[in-house]
Amino acid sequence: MKKKNIISTEQFADKKFLERLFREADYFRKADEASRIPPLLKDKILASLFYEPSTRTRFSFEAAMLKMGGDVISTESASHFSSAIKGETLQDTIRVVSGYADIIVLRHFKEGASHLAAEVSRCPIINAGDGAGEHPTQALLDIYTIKRELGRIDGLNVTLLGDLKYGRAIRSLLKLLPAYKGVKIYLVSPQELRLPASHREYLKNKKVNFHELKYLDPVLRHTDVLYTTRVQKERFASRAEYERLRKSYRIDHDTLKKLKKRAIVMNPLPRVAEITKEVDEDPRAAYFRQAQNGLYIRMALLKWILSK
Ligand code: NCD
Repeated sequence: MKKKNIISTEQFADKKFLERLFREADYFRKADEASRIPPLLKDKILASLFYEPSTRTRFSFEAAMLKMGGDVISTESASHFSSAIKGETLQDTIRVVSGYADIIVLRHFKEGASHLAAEVSRCPIINAGDGAGEHPTQALLDIYTIKRELGRIDGLNVTLLGDLKYGRAIRSLLKLLPAYKGVKIYLVSPQELRLPASHREYLKNKKVNFHELKYLDPVLRHTDVLYTTRVQKERFASRAEYERLRKSYRIDHDTLKKLKKRAIVMNPLPRVAEITKEVDEDPRAAYFRQAQNGLYIRMALLKWILSK
């Protein structure tokens, strides 16, 4: 049987696959609420190998595995507590760990790391974020959240706000949206954090209707999904540049007043300066529900990859 890896979001830009995945995630949500998750992954081992910090991605993958009857092996921080600190290459580490585990969830600071890992791995690799590259499972839980919150994806106006230059969550979601009809995308960012040319080219080739803007206000009343991200501090070469840009935009009570009544505000989390706490009380604030959805999408993905 061919290994099923999750390397790039584009693998999943297929409406039929996504609909099936959503149904599986719904199933796991109900099973979890009833405390009746079948032990589909008994005797399977997930290795979580994280070279960058993580809260949601790591805990939700590990919780998903444990709830499905499997086991987890990990190191607190692969950058510090794996043999990487002694100079071992990622490929060597993967060669070895893939002999101990049935699946590896990998987060790495280098773009393309999970692709390299998959080439030498004996077990499937899940890309849990590769530098400023991609974060496919985040995109899957994001698109699932939109469907669950608004009932559809076709025809929606999606505004992506923030660090479009380095934000891997946004770049990944952009690869799923073209699978749906009539989606309009507004890209709002300071000039310095503009979406890279290669990604704009991608949208053009997919014939997606998108517009770039510097300010959020004019599009708020047309927006169904307001997707925000933090300025990605760890990707900046200059601290001063980060400091200058980190407060470029902010969602607060006033923003909500101008936003559609039936819109949602999303964020992959962590949120830092971009959403004030007062927004949390508004029913349109979907980010904590979004994080919870990650658990169910990851259960569905683990089942898809690991169970017969
Ligand atoms: C995102 C990431 O790591 O790319 N977080 C996450 O996985 N939920 C977003 C971010 O760090 O800003």
